[in-house]
Amino acid sequence: MAANHTRRIGILTSGGDCPGLNAAIRGVAKAALYNGTTVIGIQDGFRGLVENRTIPLEDAAVSGILTRGGTFLGSSRDKPHKMNMGGKIMDMTDVAVANLKKMQIDCLVCLGGNGTQKNALRLHEKGGINVLTLPKTIDNDVAQTDITFGFDSAMLIATEAIDRLHTTATSHHRVIICEIMGHQAGWLTLGAGIAGGADVILIPEIPYDLEQVVEHIVTRRHHNKRFSIIAVAEGALSKEEAALNGDKKKKKTPHPIHKEKDGVVLIREPKASRLAREIQQLSGIDARVTSLGHVQRGGVPSPNDRLLCTRLGTKAGQLLAEGVYNVMVAVRGQQCVSVPLQKVAGITRIVPDNHPWIETARLVDTCMGN
Ligand code: F6P
Repeated sequence: MAANHTRRIGILTSGGDCPGLNAAIRGVAKAALYNGTTVIGIQDGFRGLVENRTIPLEDAAVSGILTRGGTFLGSSRDKPHKMNMGGKIMDMTDVAVANLKKMQIDCLVCLGGNGTQKNALRLHEKGGINVLTLPKTIDNDVAQTDITFGFDSAMLIATEAIDRLHTTATSHHRVIICEIMGHQAGWLTLGAGIAGGADVILIPEIPYDLEQVVEHIVTRRHHNKRFSIIAVAEGALSKEEAALNGDKKKKKTPHPIHKEKDGVVLIREPKASRLAREIQQLSGIDARVTSLGHVQRGGVPSPNDRLLCTRLGTKAGQLLAEGVYNVMVAVRGQQCVSVPLQKVAGITRIVPDNHPWIETARLVDTCMGN
């Protein structure tokens, strides 16, 4: 066996969960343990790191978890440099670094999406910690990798949902709007929309013209297709909203969560219900809404994700043995490769205007909203 450069790693899962996290933890841990590396599990993402909540990950601890959904380590959206500590936002970077040093961790392995990539890089740059990351998110919007894990499983769920909506929409000659996750990137809506044969697909990257959407639905009626399925990303914007937002590729779309005003909690009307109301008003056709929400992040990982997580995880194990740090393990074609974290962090991989999937959708007469 070649020399192992990494004696001890910590591993955490951070950000929104998704199917495949346990499979990826297992992949990293098994490959690391095989090389003689000690593996420490850190609970609830960066919060557990700051609060020093850890568990030893021996072989038995990572056995039997390949097919299990979620993350058995727990996750959170906490950032070390901006952490809510009893109501006060504090920079806890020094505490995180001190805890890693106390544990004699050679490298911190972080499984997460765009936020996690940034937090990991910051720990390296500000705290001098070695990190290694894996790209996780159902949004598929991490830079420098062909695909993220969790995406395939979510595609399966969203596609099945669209299939089910099709049969009921057909029976009742309705428009059904299916809201799919993705605030900034439309990969999941576009992929599941094409796979499920949605008649209209609306993604954040292409601001839509409501009149064109309505015209498409009405034309379908005239051609005796009396139902329509609209797959809409939660971050999709009409042309008017996009203009109000300025350059939407630079600005974040507003999260449909609560804002407090004079002690009253306001909830923005979700995109899909607003769209249903508008379409029903303009076309006179009965419209219904289904928001898939966190169903898309639940349940067991797909076979493709199990395979992907095992490939990414074991590649991470090899890189750790070689002492390759401060990289993300990415997918490029058939290979898993390491990419410097600086090239990943802070970049959201949105659907490019000329992506072949967009052309594919248009060629089967799918309205893309413009
Ligand atoms: O980042 C992944 C994601 O699933 C997004 O698609 C979605 O908008 C968001 O997380 C939901 O976050 P939360 O779990 O905090 O509600």
